[in-house]
Amino acid sequence: MKRIAILGSTGSIGTQTLDIVRQHPDRLRVTGLVANRSATELISQAKEFGTKNVALMDEKSAREHLLPGGIQAIIDIATHPEVDLVVIAVAGVIGLEPTLAAINAKKDIALASKEVLVAAGQIVMPLVAENGITLTPIDSEHSALFQCLQGYSNDQIHKLILTASGGPFRGKSGDDLAKVTKAQVLAHPTWTMGGKITVDSATLMNKGLEVIEAHWLFGTSIEEVNVVVHPQSIIHSMVQFKDSSVLAQMGWPDMRLPIQYALLYPERTPNHLKPWNPIETPTLTFEAPDPETFQCLQLAYQAAREGGTMPCALNAANEETANAFLKESIGFLEIADINLKVMQSHTPVEPTLDNIIATDAWARITARELIAK
Ligand SMILES: NC(=O)c1ccc[n+]([C@@H]2O[C@H](COP(=O)([O-])OP(=O)(O)OC[C@H]3O[C@@H](n4cnc5c(N)ncnc54)[C@H](OP(=O)(O)O)[C@@H]3O)[C@@H](O)[C@H]2O)c1
Repeated sequence: MKRIAILGSTGSIGTQTLDIVRQHPDRLRVTGLVANRSATELISQAKEFGTKNVALMDEKSAREHLLPGGIQAIIDIATHPEVDLVVIAVAGVIGLEPTLAAINAKKDIALASKEVLVAAGQIVMPLVAENGITLTPIDSEHSALFQCLQGYSNDQIHKLILTASGGPFRGKSGDDLAKVTKAQVLAHPTWTMGGKITVDSATLMNKGLEVIEAHWLFGTSIEEVNVVVHPQSIIHSMVQFKDSSVLAQMGWPDMRLPIQYALLYPERTPNHLKPWNPIETPTLTFEAPDPETFQCLQLAYQAAREGGTMPCALNAANEETANAFLKESIGFLEIADINLKVMQSHTPVEPTLDNIIATDAWARITARELIAK
């Protein structure tokens, strides 16, 4: 029996993780649950799964519901002796501190929160190796790469090919994007996800963050991580090996598959998910991304090339701009503009934990000032 704690259990990934637990009651037990403010849903989850250890990040909501609250309560859940694996599925880099604590406590990690690796890959990946734990990716693209790489060492990789659906604005020009609304952004063609990642999918920042995530997970250079637009979202990503052979992982776009793989790795066990049938999607198409229109993808490559704390600054700026767009405080094109301005104002330094925390705070303040203008 694997005992799991889920940070972000009330979100899109969190609730789908619980769905996988429901399908494997003999293999998985939920021993910790964490949300930000959704107390009622958290308590109902705890009742259903018989979970004693629950906490809310938001201290006011925690007090109102007589629950443990704040970052230390979350770290306590992530490092509890009755936890074998921690699912990190909170929206954003707020998951970094509990992730580091869980790794140091020798818990395995199933990682959805890509922002953690974007901001602090230099710290997280060596710590994973030092503690001898397993970190399995939940992001569907990285799960696909991870699956294709089973049995191969990373030095056999020629390049990683991340697939992108292209989001709701594939094929549009910059002019078309100037007036897009929140409702249009939230209407993603293939995936149903939380608000922030849905905005990131529309700007292609999500793909940019994933490029940096892949670079850290698989130890490749940033130039070895390529992006191809594949609107059907059937191929979840591909590895091209040094002998020119390409392996792909395929399936319907359903996050429960990579979640199950991450939770039960390395086993493949039956479930209730619909198996993919090639006859039902006979046409799979591919096209190059449009870097002129979707500048956020280029910003991510640029941040990774500059290195140090630059990806952390970009990530923090983007968390602020994506959330400001959701509150309708800025327009769609301002997301990339403000992200770029924050990067231009930042001089990257060595990515120690202190510098990452300081850069994250500075970039958020800088982005908020630009949002308020
Ligand atoms: N959704 C997907 O299909 C998908 C795919 C790949 C990767 N991911 C990644 O997975 C992560 C979660 O995405 P999501 O779509 O599941 O997000 P979501 O639906 O917005 O859910 C976020 C979860 O995190 C909690 N949370 C938010 N702010 C928090 C804070 N400050 N401290 C502690 N918990 C907090 C929320 O609690 P409340 O309910 O109380 O607000 C909720 O449980 C993101 O990093 C995203 O990039 C998601």
